[in-house]
Amino acid sequence: MAAGCCRLLSLLLLLCEICFSLPVERHENLREDKCGYQSCHATKASMLNVHLVPHTHDDVGWLKTVDQYFYGDRNDIQHAGVQYILDSVVEELQKNPDRRFIYVETAFFYRWWRRQSSDMQRTVKQLVNQGRLEFVNGGWCMSDEATTHYSAVVDQMTMGLRFLNQTFGPCGRPRVAWHIDPFGHAREHASMFAQMGYDGFFFGRVDYQDRSRRMRAKEQELLWRASDSISPPLADLFTGILPNGYNPPEGFCWDQSCDDPPIKDDPDLEDYNVNDVVERFLNIAKSQSLVYKSNHIIMTMGSDFQYENANLWYKNLDKLIRYVNARQSNGSRVNVLYSTPSCYLQELHRANLSWALKTDDFFPYADDAHDFWTGYFSSRPALKRYERLSNSNLQTCNQLEVLGGQASTSGPFGQGDSLTLRRAMAVAQHHDAVSGTEKQHVANDYARRLANGWQRCQVVVSNSLAALSGSTAERVYCNSLNISVCPITESSKKFSVNVFNPLARPVSWPVRLPVNGTTYVVADANGKAVDCEVIPISGTTRDVRRNRGFAVNELLFRVRAPPLGFSTYSVSLLQDGPPLASTGYHVPKSIWNKYLRVTFDPTTGLLSGLDNLETKQSIGLTQNFYWYNASDGNNSNSNQPSGAYIFRPNSSTPFVISKTAKTETIQTSVMQEVRQWFAPWASQVVRLHTDSRVLELEWTVGPIPIDDDLGKEVITRLDTDIKSSGIFFTDSNGREVLQRKKDFRPTWNLKQSEPIAGNYYPINSRAFIKDDKDQLTVVTDRSQGGGSIQNGSLEIMLHRRLLYDDVRGVAEPLNETSDVFPEGLVVRGRLLLSLDHPASAADTHRPLAEEAVLQPLLTFTEGHLHPNTRLEFSGLQAALPPAVHLLTLSQWDDKSVLLRLEHQFQSWESKANSQPVTADLQKLFSTLEVTGVSELNLSANQWKEEMKRFDWRPQAVEKQMKKSLEDPSMWEVTLRPMEIRTFLLRANLR
Ligand SMILES: *[C@@H]1O[C@H](CO)[C@@H](O)[C@H](O)[C@H]1NC(C)=O
Ligand SMILES: *[C@@H]1O[C@H](CO)[C@@H](O)[C@H](O)[C@H]1NC(C)=O
Ligand SMILES: [Zn+2]
Repeated sequence: MAAGCCRLLSLLLLLCEICFSLPVERHENLREDKCGYQSCHATKASMLNVHLVPHTHDDVGWLKTVDQYFYGDRNDIQHAGVQYILDSVVEELQKNPDRRFIYVETAFFYRWWRRQSSDMQRTVKQLVNQGRLEFVNGGWCMSDEATTHYSAVVDQMTMGLRFLNQTFGPCGRPRVAWHIDPFGHAREHASMFAQMGYDGFFFGRVDYQDRSRRMRAKEQELLWRASDSISPPLADLFTGILPNGYNPPEGFCWDQSCDDPPIKDDPDLEDYNVNDVVERFLNIAKSQSLVYKSNHIIMTMGSDFQYENANLWYKNLDKLIRYVNARQSNGSRVNVLYSTPSCYLQELHRANLSWALKTDDFFPYADDAHDFWTGYFSSRPALKRYERLSNSNLQTCNQLEVLGGQASTSGPFGQGDSLTLRRAMAVAQHHDAVSGTEKQHVANDYARRLANGWQRCQVVVSNSLAALSGSTAERVYCNSLNISVCPITESSKKFSVNVFNPLARPVSWPVRLPVNGTTYVVADANGKAVDCEVIPISGTTRDVRRNRGFAVNELLFRVRAPPLGFSTYSVSLLQDGPPLASTGYHVPKSIWNKYLRVTFDPTTGLLSGLDNLETKQSIGLTQNFYWYNASDGNNSNSNQPSGAYIFRPNSSTPFVISKTAKTETIQTSVMQEVRQWFAPWASQVVRLHTDSRVLELEWTVGPIPIDDDLGKEVITRLDTDIKSSGIFFTDSNGREVLQRKKDFRPTWNLKQSEPIAGNYYPINSRAFIKDDKDQLTVVTDRSQGGGSIQNGSLEIMLHRRLLYDDVRGVAEPLNETSDVFPEGLVVRGRLLLSLDHPASAADTHRPLAEEAVLQPLLTFTEGHLHPNTRLEFSGLQAALPPAVHLLTLSQWDDKSVLLRLEHQFQSWESKANSQPVTADLQKLFSTLEVTGVSELNLSANQWKEEMKRFDWRPQAVEKQMKKSLEDPSMWEVTLRPMEIRTFLLRANLR
């Protein structure tokens, strides 16, 4: 891609030179090229204008893999071939300059573009420059909104939009965000889209009750104020709900996949139907105009993978426009035109109306009384975790690519790249990828892409660490440490561990390595001995790892690593020996460190309380594991089964897996843990690290038994005496926190019809309950669904296994097995709990969630390191303050580096940290000399100073335009709460 873009750049320069020296009439010719808002067809002010938007919805993987969809392979599964769609549309667009088409998914467009001749590329550029082919949304994919983390969404948008800018320049920059299919909409997505410079946002799916109220109130178009911390209008986004999801109105689908009658307009032939078609269309247009505010309405003329034979659509649309508009001479007041979402948006903007203001989000989404799309919040928990971990690996890879310089991609360990993983991550953000709503073979394909990407990145990491440390000793990666598998630590008598910390502040971190010996010496980078302990590996872990490892013990110690840097620890075996005997089987009444005390009920073995010893807070806390039996569809109210998308328990009372836990206790100087065993398929470790303010709950669930022919949805529930009054809080895509209230929606009077599923919300990184005194926060390691059904209680869905398809298209029950787990997938994860005062809880959970998302990367080296090896390194001159998150540091091109700095606190969250902070870009990095800086929008496809968005007027609320503080110098940048600032730095290694 890099080489291609250089060529393109010189081509553009050439074009510019030519255009300045051209004679005047040629110049005129070029000026006819108008894209974007300038290329919209005229409308008629005194009429109802119907904007027809020809479009295709191309899933970046769902029933088929992304490449099967591209080529049109496996049409036995679903007839769909994106390459043919683009071939056909481009040909049809050339036949009539009035025709329009929008394209959305850059993952597909990119695949198609690189296989086109330069003639064809020129033709397509012309179509784009004339606004006949317009990109909307333009990310690599149309991301899921419930299960994605903002960091990965920003990356995937950046990648797609960068390709469009490089290929088409300003005419390739989408003006409108377009999420017609995602199953519910996150406020943080709207906030990101606003900061990416979009003028508006359209989507198709909204709760059926919400929609019917909005139709009556003409509030299907609204102004979304998507941040409570960023000053308006920076995070305001005009939002439109489309009339038919994203389908054409009934009777007007002219794709080869549809059966609607074509327009038969030769009066000499049989079945002449022009009058009938026009009448039906006018009726639909009129009734649609009753539920929207302006004299413009939009119709989406297309659907899933349509336009493979675009002639069918366009031939009939040409006629529709001709015959409907012909009625105007007989007094019809309806004007129909080819349009795009941005042309429609422009008319709404010109209408100069005021719009309802919305500050909450669009979760959960229900399309009927018993059809809540809240199952996919948790579907495929292993894929969800792998995707989150892959994001951490990608950020580390990006950072080390920058810090190691050119040697990173081509060095002692060969050629590596970050692009493969970046692409795999971008594809994984699709709304049928990390969401868990794809077929099994497609889920496998996403995971395989991530694994390939990580292999390419490992070369980058190894090369970079070699450059930074001066040691070219081979580095070993252990990707299965969560189940205590790591051949080098298991067998070696002497090895070293490099801990790379991707955060901009120092981090200390417990590590746990599989070993066979009983006594080890661990030394830090200064040669100082580090406290360590050896404990026996648990039976559960042995069960899960199966024959993938043989270590009998685990070595525990705590590591520290400097900001954006590494530290190296050496480990030597002192003594082999027989396996250690387990410590105690009794249930201790409590375990504690200097910050927390966790108490247990000695008769049940369950948690019974949590105390914060520093703040003298104390809550009752019981926790256990339960399952809901999945509805199988045979039910008097509705025949909706639970499935990949839908959560529908057949009873509101969950079944307890076991009322008591068998326990085993391990107490050491570095960590104490109580291992709880509930059933052969459910266990947990309650763990307290010595230097930590956090209680760790490591759960292991599966294979979920289905021998009773019932699908099951497994939850863990924390029941406390916190007086939460039916309220709990969840994050939106890992950023701002939103309040949720039981059986309540902020913008309409909810008729609750599913007491559990209708109270579930996505949890991307954290959820909490609180009262005046206490806040219990749970930080998760992946996206999950959860709810607070009883006061003081918080439940999180961990794993689901279902026997029926839920009739939303995937046509497979969510019943995951694998080669290692043919009897059903086993999943392991962690919940991190903290108990704080509500006023200062964010000071704990913000950094905690940051550490959970970007984890230290461990690499291992056998034997002694060369004495000249550099054992410690930091890429920063100094740690950044806790409010600042280093969101992006990645190589942009040969000379520049993309940097994003984020203020990670909301404006109301913390006395100490919700303050503006300032960083000096020139004094940030220890090894990079920064010689220039330009600020960009969030998606890095437009210079900040060129960013200009439509201004929208909200109803009622006054817009408070805060004058932004000017930065004192070009190098010093100020970040206000929840602000992300994006910079392109010109930088060289010092
Ligand atoms: C570790 O010990 C176990 C049990 O004694 C043995 O099966 C295994 O092969 C040993 N692993 C190594 C790498 O020595
Ligand atoms: C957009 O791409 C052009 C080349 O097509 C490049 O000159 C320009 O810098 C890019 N804009 C941004 C914001 O990266
Ligand atoms: Zn879709």
